[in-house]
Amino acid sequence: MKEAELTVDRIAVGGKGLGIDERGRVTFVGGAVPTERVRVALTKQSKRFAEGEVVAVLEPSPDRVVPRCPHATGTPRCGGCDWQHVSADGQRRLRVQMVEDALRRIGKIDTSVFAITSARPLPEDSYRTGVRLLVGPDGRLGYRQRGSHQSFLPTSCMVVHPLVQELMSVVRCPGADEVSIRIGAATGERMLVVHGDGEPIGVPADVTVSKSAGDASIHEEVDGVRLRVSSGAFFQSSPEGASALVASVRAALADVGREGVLLDAYSGGGLFSATIGSEWIAGGGAVLGVESNPVSVSDARVNAPHAMAVVSRFERWDPVPVDAVIADPARSGLEAGGVAPIVATGAPVVVLVSCDVGALGRDAGLLYEAGYRIDSVEVLDLFNQTSHAEVVTRFVKN
Ligand SMILES: C[S@@+](CC[C@H](N)C(=O)[O-])C[C@H]1O[C@@H](n2cnc3c(N)ncnc32)[C@H](O)[C@@H]1O
Repeated sequence: MKEAELTVDRIAVGGKGLGIDERGRVTFVGGAVPTERVRVALTKQSKRFAEGEVVAVLEPSPDRVVPRCPHATGTPRCGGCDWQHVSADGQRRLRVQMVEDALRRIGKIDTSVFAITSARPLPEDSYRTGVRLLVGPDGRLGYRQRGSHQSFLPTSCMVVHPLVQELMSVVRCPGADEVSIRIGAATGERMLVVHGDGEPIGVPADVTVSKSAGDASIHEEVDGVRLRVSSGAFFQSSPEGASALVASVRAALADVGREGVLLDAYSGGGLFSATIGSEWIAGGGAVLGVESNPVSVSDARVNAPHAMAVVSRFERWDPVPVDAVIADPARSGLEAGGVAPIVATGAPVVVLVSCDVGALGRDAGLLYEAGYRIDSVEVLDLFNQTSHAEVVTRFVKN
């Protein structure tokens, strides 16, 4: 295997360090922190680009720490958390840098005219209340190995909630393709979702088993609101994260009158309709939700009965005039198909919630071309120990 030595200039969208190797190639380096001098084992090479993993840190960054998770180093290595080697403060700064980079380089937006801030810190450990897991050959549950499709069966995982950890340790599900675990931190309810055939064994008596989308559910609480979360429906990575997200979106809508129509696009089970949406109802306004997953829409109808929830792909939804939009698309972002209905609503304010930084860059560029400019950007640490960021961006119509 070829090696290179380089200085890491910056963090790239996707979480790898980026530097120029001795041959002048742009090199993406996993496990590297900006400012460091590192030796890299190259895994992919072409004339202009290369990719690799750090094998030795020659001059460390002050943000580098020894990973606390035993599975973040060595071989095989867990593919779950790619920033265990960065301090919590360092991770927050790097996420802001990645977001700025994506808006400037991908969205072609002048980032000097608004602030990109970090929201209040969220728990670093034991936060995830939902995970999707691979099933190993002996039926044990785990993740993928770093850079591979093979399973990795950890003895423990420091980012999952203890009620998830217990199920990961005791449950076996031979024959299944994958298994999801979802728990309610506030209620203690637990659900195991089997994907494919396979019969779970060792399941504690309190756990509900789901074999198909919508046949089971648990409850969680966010901002004092009880939410039903059914199998096959999306829910945020943790209730603390969901609550921080609601606070950030609420702040981005602070100056919008509550007497008009609020559109909750990609509404899922109605997290925003149930919390922020109730302010619109109290203010004499109305809430409209659009979501493609029928299981999520039936949750939304329970969680936010005051909202009108529609089952539709957002790109195919017939736009109506609204006064504000919350749009929280999946990882691929809005793309042109999701930007068009937003623009057609004529909303003066759009709050975009992005769970993929690259998609945020693309969506921001599209919204900018459609006549919206960015007012504020807040970065949330919903996925601590990883390079993923959740971003709340407020756009206003020119
Ligand atoms: C990131 S989740 C957000 C859900 C919700 N806002 C929340 O915070 O819980 C994205 C949601 O978009 C839905 N979705 C994905 N593609 C869609 C599409 N083309 N049209 C409408 N909804 C879609 C997914 O089913 C999922 O519920």
